[in-house]
Amino acid sequence: MTLKTLTVLALACLTLSACGGVDPKSPLGQRKSIFKQMLHTSEDMNGMLLGRLPFDGPQFAASAVKLDQLAQQPWQHFPKVREEDHTSAKPEVWEKQARFQQLAQNLEASTAELVTATRVQPLKADGLDGPMQKVEGACKACHREFRDH
Ligand code: HEC
Repeated sequence: MTLKTLTVLALACLTLSACGGVDPKSPLGQRKSIFKQMLHTSEDMNGMLLGRLPFDGPQFAASAVKLDQLAQQPWQHFPKVREEDHTSAKPEVWEKQARFQQLAQNLEASTAELVTATRVQPLKADGLDGPMQKVEGACKACHREFRDH
């Protein structure tokens, strides 16, 4: 392989998600991107509650709204038929649709509760742990049943 082909390959990789060959515009690419944004948003929020980042009330409240919006979005990007490659979604997502939808709704309910909890002014970190843990629990519950690691 020449240096030039290597460079071309490297550049192609940059445009594909993590060089995994996933088209970012495909349903898989879109839902992965939304899931990643959910992770980044919740990581910063957890960081504030655990003292890794300074607590910033308005920023935390804005992130809660963002997380709540993101929580509505991945589900529409699960197509009728499971992709063959690059997905870590278990076949159960398609076989147990009702259960999957239920866990998706649990997440949406928990992020809505988190938004409500952030409407207190001035917002303090105390009391946000519980609602945040409920959100995390909703992520984990679904991953345990429906995601391959
Ligand atoms: C109702 C089920 C469900 C809930 C709730 C859920 N996830 Fe997931 N998540 C999945 C499935 C299924 C996949 C695998 C997607 C794929 O590869 O097709 C996934 C994948 C991911 C990934 C990997 C994305 C990638 O790049 O491959 C991250 C990160 C993630 N989820 C974060 C979260 C976070 C954070 C939450 C909660 C705020 C959450 N998820 C809630 C089902 C869920």
